[in-house]
Amino acid sequence: MNRKKIHVGDARIGMYVDEVCGSWMDHPFWKKAFRISNARILQTLQECGIHEVWIDVSKGLDVGVGADAFTEEDEKLKVDETLRSAITNVRKSERPVELQKELGQARIIHAKAKKEVASMFQEARMGKALQLEQVASLVDEISHSIMRNQCALLSLARLKSKDDYTYLHSVAVCALMIALGRQLGMEGDALRQAGMAGLLHDIGKIMTPEEVLNKPGSLTREEFDIMKQHPRGGWDILRASPGVSEITLDVCLHHHERLDGKGYPMKLSGESISLFARMGAVCDVYDAITSNRCYKSGWEPAEAIRKMAEWKDGNYDESVFHAFVKTVGIYPIGSLVRLESGRLAVVSDQFSGSLLSPKVVVFYSTRHREHLYPEMVELSRSQDAIAAIEKAAEWKFDPAMLQGLVQLSA
Ligand SMILES: [Fe+2]
Ligand SMILES: [Fe+2]
Repeated sequence: MNRKKIHVGDARIGMYVDEVCGSWMDHPFWKKAFRISNARILQTLQECGIHEVWIDVSKGLDVGVGADAFTEEDEKLKVDETLRSAITNVRKSERPVELQKELGQARIIHAKAKKEVASMFQEARMGKALQLEQVASLVDEISHSIMRNQCALLSLARLKSKDDYTYLHSVAVCALMIALGRQLGMEGDALRQAGMAGLLHDIGKIMTPEEVLNKPGSLTREEFDIMKQHPRGGWDILRASPGVSEITLDVCLHHHERLDGKGYPMKLSGESISLFARMGAVCDVYDAITSNRCYKSGWEPAEAIRKMAEWKDGNYDESVFHAFVKTVGIYPIGSLVRLESGRLAVVSDQFSGSLLSPKVVVFYSTRHREHLYPEMVELSRSQDAIAAIEKAAEWKFDPAMLQGLVQLSA
């Protein structure tokens, strides 16, 4: 494989696209790799709002003379630099409650939130106005759990099944918005608003037909256009419910806008996108790309952070993205990593030392290809260090087993 990153304007028929640089919610190419075999595919690629793609020149045409192309090494250095600058001045997060203690509570809140969001969406589907007091008290419970120990609820947020994806995605974005808001120095009502906006941002998806929402293949242009109606559909629903704040309406309508003006539905750009909508965009993409869907398995959290750093230009507000990296860490809790000793481990707490040397639970030897008795290691006090991010799916590890290891260590 010989990968080069190029601008979509330099793409041409005959090239083999190995990866599209952007969240798969922002373009209709759900497949990881494909050949640009005709003018229609080329046109869709160039018009869907994506800036760059990775091409594999061992499988298709190379770029023409004079076009810019970047190597994997160039990109790795750029991403490393972005992440390094993102984690300067990290405030040690206050955690009045130990992870193990909060996990039990977080699990109860998580299950309750799923049920309440499902019934709220169901009622909205039937045309009923939202019961805002109930939503507000749910947001308060989520917010209190985040205050006690944000790792607990955030570590649960990844586990989703096909059927409960939309509900649990709403809960996850709510929790991420509150954690990110805190990192940005928000308090009180502002935090509540951030959480509420996260919980309701995708309510418009109740109007998206099931076969488009869960289609296990590429969306046609028409289907993608239907999908893109959900921010405005949600805004209509929320506007009809008394008491919904301007911030919630704003995040619902604009969470798919992009700084370069290539988002939807209104192609807002730069300063015209509010801080809350910029926060929503980052939290939304992170949760979506780390979740397993019926058509695609999610990325590892650590991999997702690197991808987002790679795509950041034009997509996200730099300072919001930096705050987000500080919030979830470079190796977010639950990340599968390979250590220099050849052992595999799960990140169980990224704030114990520096963000580059988290607390992990070692559980597998790649040399002997066998499970080890789980052992908690503080990398900041160990000779061992993270060598690489690994993919749980490639090792065929069950996400619930990895989740169990996180809890074990707490
Ligand atoms: Fe959305
Ligand atoms: Fe979303």
